[in-house]
Amino acid sequence: MSNVIILGAQWGDEGKGKIVDLFCERFDIVARYQGGHNAGHTVQIGDKKFVLKLIPSGILHPGKRAVIGNGLVVDPAALLAEMQSLEAVGVDVKTQLAISNRAHVLFPYHRTMERLLDAIGTTLRGIGPCYEDKAGRRGIRMADLLDRERFGALFEARAAEKETVAKAFGIAQELDLARIRADYEGFADRIRPMVSDTARLLNDAIRAGKSVMFEGAQGTMLDLDHGTFPFVTSSSASAGGACTGTGVPPTRIHAIVGVAKAYTTRVGGGPFPSEALDAMGDQIRQRGNEFGSVTGRPRRCGWFDIPLARYSGMLNGIDSMVVTKLDVLDELEKIPVCVAYRTGRHEVTEMPATIAGLEAAEAVYECLPGWRSSTAGISRYEDLPQRAKDYLTFLENRTGIEAGCISTGPERNQTIVRQGSRFHQIFP
Ligand code: GDP
Ligand code: IMO
Ligand code: MG
Repeated sequence: MSNVIILGAQWGDEGKGKIVDLFCERFDIVARYQGGHNAGHTVQIGDKKFVLKLIPSGILHPGKRAVIGNGLVVDPAALLAEMQSLEAVGVDVKTQLAISNRAHVLFPYHRTMERLLDAIGTTLRGIGPCYEDKAGRRGIRMADLLDRERFGALFEARAAEKETVAKAFGIAQELDLARIRADYEGFADRIRPMVSDTARLLNDAIRAGKSVMFEGAQGTMLDLDHGTFPFVTSSSASAGGACTGTGVPPTRIHAIVGVAKAYTTRVGGGPFPSEALDAMGDQIRQRGNEFGSVTGRPRRCGWFDIPLARYSGMLNGIDSMVVTKLDVLDELEKIPVCVAYRTGRHEVTEMPATIAGLEAAEAVYECLPGWRSSTAGISRYEDLPQRAKDYLTFLENRTGIEAGCISTGPERNQTIVRQGSRFHQIFP
């Protein structure tokens, strides 16, 4: 049995939730490895829509084990609210879910700090400040939260620091620290039965022949190290994060699948060379319903970016690509694809490493003819219009990565798996 990472190859919201939900049947465990409730992974089943934030998208399959790995930052209030909404529709979250005792705990003061300092258009969930405390070795972990005495001492120390900062900003009244402490002691009792050493759980399961699907959040270009820094999230969203964020060694990972939209979107600030700031961008936003599943913010829309996808393929070692939302392009007469960047007189096909380089990069487009007919819901590759096939072939040739799976709608059955592809080998 193989262990597979499914991750976002662009700037997030590629449709990871749908793909994880669809293919996790073949796995024993689904594990998240980074991020927090900044993620919003949509799973559409009939007329029911679920948006998973902290809990792995596999949880909707009865009996499937779901793991929140050590690499996440967990807001217990958000977790309990998400659990409650899943339990209301009959999901047995308490039995299925395991939470790492090494995951970091997110507190309301992280949100307060973020409101003061956010300069890049974050989700304002407190994610960055919580990871700052982790990297600064001031964080409080799940295991600490569950140990009442230790938690009390740690919380007092952290609270004193946060209060000093809040006073300096003149917002000390916003921090009701006694209340926060009492709330978190209450959360601890409710979460306790699910918290364990998930690195051991996962490694024991793998040794016993079980298989794990790793569910990425955000996307490669939002990765703290490899993304468009500083316009990134604060965790390792690329493939390497799956190992550090769960404690499963690289030698146990067998395949990596990248999810990419047939175009590109991003939410929040930062460079986006293939952004379509014209009416075509608006058209994609409307047709693709490109509004954030967590914050409701309109997503910035643009064209498929070949240098970006190649970079993502290199960094993650992507074996196969899932191209989602092909149906959103159905009505377009022509479809621009960014094939290179121009800076001054130079054209490059590599992703610039610096923000200055990215900001100076102007997209160079090749236009492909649109197919102008509906692909919505098509589930066999042969049934796609020839021009849609040509578009996919163009992406494959230029990125050097196969499009082994194509999504033509939000629902499970609106998916094409290409026979004979590497994707088909990974998910037989
Ligand atoms: P994630 O964060 O990567 O899981 O993606 P989101 O759930 O934030 O955003 C993807 C959105 O596109 C969701 O509303 C999905 O239901 C929807 N979606 C996924 N795949 C397709 C597709 O192939 N076609 C269309 N039209 N919508 C899709
Ligand atoms: P999923 O998992 C798209 C973006 C924010 C902001 C930057 C940093 O649904 O793909 P943060 O709150 O993480 O510190 O914000 O990252 N961002 C996402 N964009 N999809 C996401 O998650 C995102 N999570 C964070 O908009 O630009
Ligand atoms: Mg999302």
